[in-house]
Amino acid sequence: MRSRRRARARAVKAWAGRFDARTAPLVEAFTRSVGVDRRLWPHDIAGSVAHVQALVRARLVTRREGARLTRGLAAVERELAAGRFRFLASDEDIHMAIERRLTELVGPVGGKLHTGRSRNDQVALDLRLWLRAECTALDAALGRFQRALGGVARRHRTTLVPGYTHLQRAQPILLAHHLLAYREMLARDRGRFRDCRARADELPLGAGALAGAGFALDRALVARRLGFARLAQNSVDAVADRDAGAEFLAAAAIAAVHLSRLAEEIVLWASEEFGFVELPDAFATGSSMMPQKKNPDVAELVRGKTGRVLGALVALLTILKGLPLAYNRDLQEDKPPLFDAADTLRECLDVLTAMVPALRFRTERMTAAADGLLLATDLADLLVERGVPFRRSHEIVGGLVRHCLATGTALRDLDAAVLRRHSPHLTPEIVRTLTPGRSVARRHVVGGTAPAEVRRQLARTAREDRR
Ligand code: ARG
Repeated sequence: MRSRRRARARAVKAWAGRFDARTAPLVEAFTRSVGVDRRLWPHDIAGSVAHVQALVRARLVTRREGARLTRGLAAVERELAAGRFRFLASDEDIHMAIERRLTELVGPVGGKLHTGRSRNDQVALDLRLWLRAECTALDAALGRFQRALGGVARRHRTTLVPGYTHLQRAQPILLAHHLLAYREMLARDRGRFRDCRARADELPLGAGALAGAGFALDRALVARRLGFARLAQNSVDAVADRDAGAEFLAAAAIAAVHLSRLAEEIVLWASEEFGFVELPDAFATGSSMMPQKKNPDVAELVRGKTGRVLGALVALLTILKGLPLAYNRDLQEDKPPLFDAADTLRECLDVLTAMVPALRFRTERMTAAADGLLLATDLADLLVERGVPFRRSHEIVGGLVRHCLATGTALRDLDAAVLRRHSPHLTPEIVRTLTPGRSVARRHVVGGTAPAEVRRQLARTAREDRR
């Protein structure tokens, strides 16, 4: 009896009524999620405040009780916001912790808060509120990085750089064009987070444990209070579904892959072999042993952290794939991957947004590398303009390239006899017109690398940035 009373003083579990014996401490620790889900507190409080309004409307609590609960929730919120909230070992998760503290503050009426509600629809609600906010925040962070890339691109609207396929020099392009490619990827990423937010914009509360609340709760009222566009239309689905999380992680994984590809290019371009960028000191690290080293650790970590984000997507889908309907405790494991992926992606975006504008592009090296055999396609195109079918002109220029490589001659320096041997259409005057500048200029299709077209794209992105 004494020990029983002591156990109660320690903390009564909300579900203790059905149990004779206490939970084993090992199990308590194993099932506890408050260390992870405590960050849901602002959403949990908001959800509870809206739920209290539905309880009042349904006359399940009086106006006076409702006001007391709302004031109590505000007090708990203040404690949490100020970091003054004291979590107990017996607080299983953030939902229980808040309700426990509320009841300490307002007395037995606190026990009415959970009327018509289950932690199953409560956690589904909290997660959707969190996802909505996180989608908006990541959309904004992606937008900031887009602006940073746009700024760098604007500074380099005439800088030439080799474009690569298979990591072999392919054709000259403008550095701005290369950088704007990433802006396009980020634009799609933003679209994915907006889509995710729009689909997640559905209120699960009212689903109860799984069958629907047993009281006439005005779900539309709750949805309005919390700014949800729609009500979940099936209570079983509402508590079992984590699609919004999976979509979020898919969007995060794709975005992280984009950042990782950029990071990889920074690593490559910062190497002595490429020598296209100089890392700002503030964003590089040295070696503890080799005094000459300046390492691109920031870019490498962005690339590496991407693995975590991809892992998060696989983790959540794997958690979901074998679950029977409706709620299962497995679902508690959705939060670590979601939170980690969101934090990681945000961190990567923030550091790249700061670093990329500080990169020094070694434009003289880029320009020098963007010349030479990269103009072979342009020579083939010149032959096409003289009526030679492209397949034939490709073959002719292929032969000239072979000659250049064997003799160490530049395309532009080929002499009349060699040219004549390969094609009656070719003269030294014609090959001398080949320059990287003319090469990019002739690519003025929509989306091409011609300076005029890239300027048009820069103007479009600048307009987007102002919106
Ligand atoms: N902490 C739990 C979670 O994150 C809350 C729901 C618990 N529900 C339950 N039936 N045990 O999923």
